[in-house]
Amino acid sequence: MKSLLELYEKYVARTYERQPIVPVEGEGVRIRDINGKEYIDFVAGIAVCSLGHCHPEVVRTIKEQAEKLMHVSNLYYIKTQAELAEALAEVTPPSIEKFFFCNSGAEAVEAAFKLAVRYTGRERIVAMRGSFHGRSAAAVGATWNPSYREPFTPLIPKIFDFIPFGDLDAARDTITERTAAVIAEPIQGEGGVNVPPDDFLPGLRELCDDSGALLIFDEIQCGMGRTGKWFACEHWGVEPDIITIAKALGNGFPIGCMGAKPEVMASFSPGDHASTFGGNPLACAVAKTVIRVMKEEKLPQRAAETGSHFKKRLEILSEKHGSVEEARGLGLMLALELKSEEAARKTIDMARERGYLINRTAGKVLRFVPPLIIEKKDIDGLAGTLDQILEEVEK
Ligand SMILES: Cc1ncc(COP(=O)(O)O)c(C=O)c1O
Repeated sequence: MKSLLELYEKYVARTYERQPIVPVEGEGVRIRDINGKEYIDFVAGIAVCSLGHCHPEVVRTIKEQAEKLMHVSNLYYIKTQAELAEALAEVTPPSIEKFFFCNSGAEAVEAAFKLAVRYTGRERIVAMRGSFHGRSAAAVGATWNPSYREPFTPLIPKIFDFIPFGDLDAARDTITERTAAVIAEPIQGEGGVNVPPDDFLPGLRELCDDSGALLIFDEIQCGMGRTGKWFACEHWGVEPDIITIAKALGNGFPIGCMGAKPEVMASFSPGDHASTFGGNPLACAVAKTVIRVMKEEKLPQRAAETGSHFKKRLEILSEKHGSVEEARGLGLMLALELKSEEAARKTIDMARERGYLINRTAGKVLRFVPPLIIEKKDIDGLAGTLDQILEEVEK
C-alpha cells in the first residue's frame, strides 16, 4: 500500500480525494481490497456497476467480442452499434429513437448541447442550480458548483442561465426565444440526490413546448433502472427531446450515449459530430448485454422494491438521530443528509472500517447507489451499522 501511495504521489494527478483502500477484486455487491478485507459496495463505482461487479455475462461478452473485433472506427457500419441502438430504443422513452455513441457522460452532454444548438439555431441553455453534467468545457459550464466552473472561466461558453431546481416561476422568467435547450437531471445526483416537486418536469415540458426550446434530460446517474423505472423521467410521465445516458450502460465498461427524437437528430449531418472510439464493437456489445441482463433480471422493478425497503430503513434512522437532517431519494438512488460535513466524513470512514463502502456528495449528504442486485439482508446490515455509527458520531 505504501509504495502504491508513493506512485500516486509521484505520478498521478491529484484530481480526487481518495479513500485509503486498494480494491483488487469484485463479485456481485462485494469488493475485496489488497489486504483481503471485504466490503459491501453501496457506491458501485458511482452508480455504474448496476449488475454487480464482474457480472459473468458482461465478462463473457467482453472476452468473446475482444477475440472477434474491438475497434474499426465509424467509417464503417458496426453490427453491435446498430443492435445496441435498437435495444436502447425499446427501453428509453418512446419518442427517443436515434442514438449517438461516445465514451463518457460529459461527452454525451456535449453532444446534446451541440445537437440542441444545431436544431434550434439558438444560443442559450438553461441549467439548474445543484446540477452536475460533467467536467468538459460546456458540461462543466452547465454544472452549478461554482468551484468546479470558476477556475476555468476562460474556457467556458457564456451561454448558461441557472435557475433553482424545482422553481417553475424562475423557469418561466428565464426560458426565452433565445433558449436552445433546458437541461435537467430528473433526480439530481451529485447535487445531493434531490427529487423535484411533482409539477416541475411536466411544467418544464410545457414551457419548452411553448417557447420552442428543447428539453434535455440528463439520465446519466438516475437512468438505467436505478430509481425503479428504466429512466427517472417516467416517474412524472414526461418525455424529453434529448436524453443523455452513460454510467450503468456499460456496467464499468466506458460508454456514453445521446439519444434524441428522430426529427431532432436529423439536424446532425456527417461531419457535425464524431468520436473515434464512440460506438466501438466492444463497448456496444457490452452495453447490449447490460440491457438484456437488466431486462431478464427485472432490475428496475427490483430497484423499486429493495429501494422502498432501504428508504424506510433510512427514514427510521432520520427520525431517531439528531445528526440526520433528512432521508430522501427514489429506488436505489437514496441519501441521508447529515447536519454537518464532519459527521458525514466520520460516518464514511467508520462504515468503511466496518466493511461498508458509501460516499458523500454535496458536502454532508451520504449517498447510497449500490448495485441494483443488492439484497435486503445487506441493506439491513448497513442500516444497523449506520445506527451504531451515528450514535457514536453524536457523542
Ligand atoms: C448526471 C450526470 N451527468 C454527467 C456526468 C458526467 O459523467 P462522466 O463522469 O462519465 O463524464 C455525471 C457523473 O457523475 C452525472 O452524474
